[in-house]
Amino acid sequence: MSAQDTVRHGEQLHLIRLRVNGIGHDVEVPARRLLSDALRHDLGLTGTHVGCEHGVCGACTVLMDGKPVRACLIFAVSAVDAEITTVEGLTEPDGSLSPVQQAFSECHGLQCGFCTPGFLTTITAGLNENPCPTHEEAREMIAGNLCRCTGYQNIVKSVERAAEITQAKEAESA
Ligand code: FES
Ligand code: FES
Repeated sequence: MSAQDTVRHGEQLHLIRLRVNGIGHDVEVPARRLLSDALRHDLGLTGTHVGCEHGVCGACTVLMDGKPVRACLIFAVSAVDAEITTVEGLTEPDGSLSPVQQAFSECHGLQCGFCTPGFLTTITAGLNENPCPTHEEAREMIAGNLCRCTGYQNIVKSVERAAEITQAKEAESA
């Protein structure tokens, strides 16, 4: 137990700093606190959704150092050295929608929206790695995320549209 740890209701709490969307947050959490719960309950970032809580649905996907991870499978205490990006952090610096968010809006990539934060983070990372996906690659990019509403067609269209928007923006700024 470190000097900064405390015990509450018989449980040891750890004072940790999480860097989320560019901002450092000091939180006191038990070692068993999931990152998804720390984001939602300790930091109030409820954009990260929790569906299955065992790594299957992808609703809780956040980026850790730019890579998509299931926040329901990671303890908050193991995320201290990482830069975490949640759906709240995807907007452009001026507050406008990111290409993936804009594409979802244009292509009707969501219905109830429960799965959407996980798709947005997953696709953001996917397009960073593969900025010009083929139709098949666009489908594969979202293969690990579950949606109960959309049949996935418009989500695949959104991946392709987001790639177009990103390329157009890059051409504009070149
Ligand atoms: S809530 Fe994490 S994968 Fe479903
Ligand atoms: S839009 Fe409803 S679960 Fe995907």
